[in-house]
Amino acid sequence: MPMSFNQAIIEEFRANAGRVGGPFSGGDLLLLTTTGARSGREHTVPLGYVRADGLLLVVASAAGAPDHPQWYRNLLARPVVRVELGPETFEAVAVPAEGDRRGRLFEAVVRVAPGYGDYQARTARLLPVVVLEHPGADAPGSGPREVANLADKLLEVHTWLRSQLRYVRAETEAHFAAGSTGSAGDGRPPGLGLQIRQHCLALCEGLTHHHTGEDGAIFPALARSHPQLRPTLDRLGEEHRAVGRIKAELVRLLAGLGTAEPERFRAELARLSAALEAHLAHEEAELLPVLADIPFPPRR
Ligand SMILES: [Fe+2]
Ligand SMILES: [Fe+2]
Repeated sequence: MPMSFNQAIIEEFRANAGRVGGPFSGGDLLLLTTTGARSGREHTVPLGYVRADGLLLVVASAAGAPDHPQWYRNLLARPVVRVELGPETFEAVAVPAEGDRRGRLFEAVVRVAPGYGDYQARTARLLPVVVLEHPGADAPGSGPREVANLADKLLEVHTWLRSQLRYVRAETEAHFAAGSTGSAGDGRPPGLGLQIRQHCLALCEGLTHHHTGEDGAIFPALARSHPQLRPTLDRLGEEHRAVGRIKAELVRLLAGLGTAEPERFRAELARLSAALEAHLAHEEAELLPVLADIPFPPRR
């Protein structure tokens, strides 16, 4: 089968640390990898990007086609994406801008790359402007720390989870505070808004990943090496399932774009917060002394 046009660009990009020739030479190009909402399959596309207001932006223009591109539909369901930019690869949380902010950012994009204005003129869709956020980049305590053992690694992930949780709760409270002052004319959409939704889905994805790793690898290994910990590990595993049930309810509430039930979301988020904070503290108290003796990354 002949290589597709996109595939040829992707291979050239990776072989040349992000530089490509032909029609894209000199252009600002990145590779975005999303995950299929249903298939779970990775999907990589080369995209033009624009930096504006200190943000890394991509536009779901599909060259002005009537439908949103697949990568945009994917990131609505799975906001944690992988970005290849020059020689760098990093994970980001994809957050479509809304309301006035989207308008401002789109104007900034068009100033740099006027072609997007032509694409917008061709379609009835409002072209989504997506901010690719470095997760935790602006969260306190999330800077790089030396990781020498499994206790350090656990704390690093727990710190990320705590900071994301605080962030989503603060955004949610700000949303409610704005609503209660009656400032409905601020362009704020009904429901919770995509930003809260994307951040909450990213938190849930990170949480699923972390607990799956603990249940599937770390806890069984500890149960073998430290049999006296087994009752503790069983209790921690039960806490994972309790947190998982609240998380599933949150994801269900978020499935409706913007969430039809913001008050229920707020209540479930408070429940998740209490259960998760208690679990993280319990796990750290019980396991950190043991994990501190296990080198990480593992030595051969
Ligand atoms: Fe855990
Ligand atoms: Fe944990």
